[in-house]
Amino acid sequence: MEEIEGKPSARKRTAKAHAAGLDPARAPSIARTDSRLEIKTEGKAALRIHVGDCRPLLREIPECRGRAVDLIFADPPFNWSVPYDRWEDNLPHNEYLDFTYEWVGLCCDALRPGGALWVNIPDDWAAEIVLFLKKRGLAMVNWCIWHYRFGQNNKSRFISSKVHVLYFVKGGGTHTWNPFDIAEASDRATTYGDKRTLSKKDGMPAGMRVPMDVWYGPNLGRVQGNNKERRSRHHNQLPEAYLERVVLSTSNPGDLVVDPFLGSGTTGVVAHALGRRFIGTEFSAENAASAFERIQAGPTRPLGLPNTTGSAIFKVRKALSIATP
Ligand SMILES: C[S@@+](CC[C@H](N)C(=O)[O-])C[C@H]1O[C@@H](n2cnc3c(N)ncnc32)[C@H](O)[C@@H]1O
Repeated sequence: MEEIEGKPSARKRTAKAHAAGLDPARAPSIARTDSRLEIKTEGKAALRIHVGDCRPLLREIPECRGRAVDLIFADPPFNWSVPYDRWEDNLPHNEYLDFTYEWVGLCCDALRPGGALWVNIPDDWAAEIVLFLKKRGLAMVNWCIWHYRFGQNNKSRFISSKVHVLYFVKGGGTHTWNPFDIAEASDRATTYGDKRTLSKKDGMPAGMRVPMDVWYGPNLGRVQGNNKERRSRHHNQLPEAYLERVVLSTSNPGDLVVDPFLGSGTTGVVAHALGRRFIGTEFSAENAASAFERIQAGPTRPLGLPNTTGSAIFKVRKALSIATP
């Protein structure tokens, strides 16, 4: 039996939202609101979205205060002057770094021992976040790259075609890692016809392996134009296939997943559809409402299916047929 609670507050851009001595016309700081959207199942929060600045919210949300979060995925504003609905995305360099260290630190606090933290971040800030997390004692598991090729023209330097996908784990507890749930057909199977891949010695199904740390391929491009995942009025929306990989590999059904920068709700869509509990925070009430609706509508294609076509980028020399595991 599901019950829906709360409504997002009306649009407001108050002095309070831009407090803390920064230029109120530009600099977002503390935006407090009690507004939230929630679906409960048997008294438990199956899905909850808090509207406001993630920093005070991460300090207050009971599951975060109680260090009970299994997986956090964060795709923050990059300070690239993106016209987000509410957030002003052009802080002075040092203020952006202070903002970053604050929310990253709060994410570290909110994780349970053994929990996973993923951060989607461009070249500009990746190194600073990696050093910060190492100093906080988290262990880097992978520094992945999300590679895309569409819509990035530039003549003045090499064309940007990637974002960093940082995957860290907090120590002191059991870490969740589900290699079988994200396995894909190996290049040996899809491209080179190498039969050794059909008798794997590492326990993986025949012809399958864990994806590599550079992510690209079908359903993993940028969400633009007439892509059927596209939500209007949202910026920098991530593909569902990206979050599918994150959620399946580092959480289990029933686990709690948190996204402090919910945007169009991609993390929530995937987590909810895969049976995880989910809490998101989002600065814009409109984005939060739209994400809430999208999460309830569900993903654009079925999730969790084995990928037997792989992601090889070379011409097929000789393909083997892979049985569905
Ligand atoms: C890059 S977008 C996230 C996109 C999201 N991953 C998706 O797939 O749709 C960043 C989002 O964070 C929100 N935001 C920016 N600053 C915030 C803050 N301090 N607290 C909460 N949300 C914030 C913006 O309004 C925007 O919707």
